[in-house]
Amino acid sequence: MDRYLIRGGKPLNGEVEISGAKNAAVAIIPATLMVEGVCRIENIPQISDVTLLLNILEEMGAEIRTINRNTLDIDCSMVNRTTAPFELMRKIRASYYLIGAELGRFGRAEVAMPGGCDFGVRPIDQHIKGFNALGASVEVKNGMVYAEAKDGLVGGTVYLDVVSVGATMNIMMAATLAPGKTTIENAAREPHIVDLANFLNSMGADIRGAGTSVIRVYGAGKLTGGFYSIIPDQIEAGTYMCAVAAAGGEVLIKNVIPKHLDCITQKLIEMGVSVTDLDEAVLVRRDKPLQRVNVKTMPYPGFPTDMQPQIVTTLLKAEGISIVTESVWDSRYKYVDELKKMGAQIQVDGKTAIIEGVECLTGAPIAACDLRAGAAMVIAGLCASGETIVEQIHYIERGYEDIVGKFQALGADIELLRDPMDPESKPVLRAIS
Ligand code: EPU
Repeated sequence: MDRYLIRGGKPLNGEVEISGAKNAAVAIIPATLMVEGVCRIENIPQISDVTLLLNILEEMGAEIRTINRNTLDIDCSMVNRTTAPFELMRKIRASYYLIGAELGRFGRAEVAMPGGCDFGVRPIDQHIKGFNALGASVEVKNGMVYAEAKDGLVGGTVYLDVVSVGATMNIMMAATLAPGKTTIENAAREPHIVDLANFLNSMGADIRGAGTSVIRVYGAGKLTGGFYSIIPDQIEAGTYMCAVAAAGGEVLIKNVIPKHLDCITQKLIEMGVSVTDLDEAVLVRRDKPLQRVNVKTMPYPGFPTDMQPQIVTTLLKAEGISIVTESVWDSRYKYVDELKKMGAQIQVDGKTAIIEGVECLTGAPIAACDLRAGAAMVIAGLCASGETIVEQIHYIERGYEDIVGKFQALGADIELLRDPMDPESKPVLRAIS
């Protein structure tokens, strides 16, 4: 099985470049389905979720050309199929964006129920509510979502009962080409929502208010090709910030939008970490003991749920008892048992974790149980004494580009041990064609 071997206890020093945002890329790539012409997209992260989506688009008839490591030309003009292999679609959460994009382009969609990380129940009722408001009927059966707007989609109003990133983006996509005005109320406000709106607007859409809780979409006649660069990944940047806080050292984290990191920066400052905002970078330094804090995850601009495992792991190095409350997902503490193998003192009660700072974590064989939990396992290994083996790293490769190379460049002793017999073992890079 592929795994990482980490010999922990070394501080991190140097510079790291953050890749394009996963959760923007996995929406923008399906959105190219609605564009007539070539979309040149820059700053695409080299991660396996992106590779999967590109394979899905190719199966549907898209032409994809690699321009350089992080830039692709995607042309979906020739796509005439509304479905792709079930096995590819069900592996990834973001395949649900194919529903909005296909409905927008063809007025019908056939997409596998989304997979992705297991945090308990992950419903899509708010997506369906939105598609219904635009005139589509939606049926879920045999693990598939079938959506159809027999008379075409038309603008409508939808009030989201829960603040959902996926539903906001999916409804925005479906509405882009629907005649009339669509209003999404109680919309999510994450940076990747603004990025998707900016992408669609740069291709000819008319979407206003993204980044606020009311988004208005005025149906565009058509979208035409163009150039777009994806924003830097807020969560990847936050993960490196936590790694420096936990392991110590000084790191310049480049290619970030400091404003997007405020929610993480402020918490780290409260813990005694020095964080300096620069133009497109943050300088993070930890040279004194960490202080305990309380954290509650919330939709943006609150503290991101996708940083919860990383902050919990960092708090193991703080003096005193910290309390973390997970308010977005029902079940996002499965990784805690792995940390306990390293000597962590954490008690979980429902949505709350009580974390007691420990003198030292000790290396152990541990496993990633989802993407962000996997990143937290790496952080734990970096600040533990002795050797840590992290298994199930395919979860981590879903969302972190070259995590091993990036940490090695910061002085960490981490290596990738590839197992050619592991069915999940394959490089995520696309061949240049
Ligand atoms: N929800 C509903 N009904 C819906 C949709 C969501 O009840 O129709 C609930 C969920 O059960 C959850 C809450 O609303 O309690 C928020 O879910 P949301 O829809 O915002 O999550 P998502 O779109 O499925 C995206 C990210 C996740 C991230 C969440 C929250 C992608 C592909 N995934 O998921 O990212 O945790 O937003 O910010 O964008 C990750 O990157 O590791 C990751 C899991």
